[in-house]
Order: sequence, then structure tokens, then C-alpha cells
Amino acid sequence: MKTISIRQAGKRHIPVLDVMGARYQFWHLRAALTRWRRARRMQFRWQDGLVQLTVCNRKVSVLPKYAMMIEDEREEWDEYYLHGFEEGMSVMDVGAGCGETAIFYLAHGARKVVAIESDQGAFKLLRKNTEGLAVECIGGPFRLEYLNFDVDFCKMDCEGCETLFLGVEAIDTRLVVEVHKRMIGQEASTSLIRKFNLRLLKDYGGYQLYSN
Ligand SMILES: C[S@@+](CC[C@H](N)C(=O)[O-])C[C@H]1O[C@@H](n2cnc3c(N)ncnc32)[C@H](O)[C@@H]1O
Repeated sequence: MKTISIRQAGKRHIPVLDVMGARYQFWHLRAALTRWRRARRMQFRWQDGLVQLTVCNRKVSVLPKYAMMIEDEREEWDEYYLHGFEEGMSVMDVGAGCGETAIFYLAHGARKVVAIESDQGAFKLLRKNTEGLAVECIGGPFRLEYLNFDVDFCKMDCEGCETLFLGVEAIDTRLVVEVHKRMIGQEASTSLIRKFNLRLLKDYGGYQLYSN
């Protein structure tokens, strides 16, 4: 299976390099090649255009762009995604991807997971990968009304949708949230941190991981 190919960028129809689902314009060749070399080192197993991985002893099929992210971040989930989590808790997983994090929480003793994912391709795999498990899958963008679900813990990594929290007075669950400062801007980011008294777990540069 090819890890690198040439495609057309969305609106402008400019050719771009697609490396495991990440798009690079040609003048970003060096970054594309770095990702390509890393992808080759990872020696993924492919089937029908999807990557086959094992997450917490469960076999999952994921879209290529998720495969690299999971391999990169998997060890950090143990360190950060379990902050404030306790066995037996029910979890809301916002930005659930292909089910990898729902499976991770179940393997660590979550009672059930409500998994929310807006990407249609990922959502299909989320449903398939969590079939038969205590996971309720919700497709489409996160909405504040989902906070009415009876959950104890919320993991939120949804590429900017965390700003919706600015519309609520309080968050009743334990929370681990990625705040995408580069995406949502300094002002929204500071407001979120102050409003919910968030504490920094890790600074990744463009985004930061916080807990309450
Ligand atoms: C970096 S991935 C997270 C993957 C992995 N499950 C994790 O938590 O590390 C972010 C995910 O958030 C999803 N997402 C983006 N905006 C969203 C929204 N408004 N509501 C729900 N999911 C969203 C993306 O499609 C993507 O799958």
C-alpha cells in the first residue's frame, strides 16, 4: 500500500503530496519526506486502504491519518488521558476518531463510553471497531446538549470545538481537554483556562493539554 501519493488540494486544484492522510504542498517537501520516512519505519499492516493496528489488545482498522497519530501519541494517553480518571467511571470521548480512545478507556476500566465523532469516515470505523462493546457512538459535531449524558469523565480532543464550553457555566465531570490555541486564538484559549480553572498537563506548541 502506498504511503505517499499525489492528489489535488480541495478548492484550488493545486497538486499536493498526500502522506498517510496528511496533505503537503510541494514546497513543504522536506516535512512530507520526514513524515514519509517515519511512516515507513512504522511498517503498518494495510487492508483495503485501512491500517490494521492493535489498541489495548483489540484489533482495529483505522484511516491512515489516524494510524500515525495513534502510534505517536499512544504512550502519552497513559500519562495524560487518565488524569483524574478512575476505574468504573463512565466516559464521554469527544473526538473519538476510529474508536481507539473509547477502547483505551474501556481497557482501563471505564463502565461505558459515549463516543462522539464528526468525521464520517472515522465514525463508520468507530462503530465497527467498538461493535459489541459498551460504547454509544454519536456521529456529527459535538453539541452542548451532550453534557446531559450521565458521565463522570470527559476527554475532549476535537480540533477547536472546545470553545463551545465557553457557553456553559460549569463542567460537572472530570475533564482532560486539548485546547487548540493556534486554532481558536489566544483570547478564547485564555477564557477557557480561566473559566474552568484548567491546569496545564502538556504543551505541544500549537495546542495544549489541560485538566480541571
Ligand atoms: C486528533 S483526533 C483525536 C483522535 C483520538 N481519538 C484522540 O483522542 O487522541 C481529533 C478528532 O476530533 C474530530 N472532531 C473535529 N471536530 C469535531 C467536532 N466538532 N465534534 C466531534 N469531533 C470532532 C476529528 O474528526 C478527529 O477525529
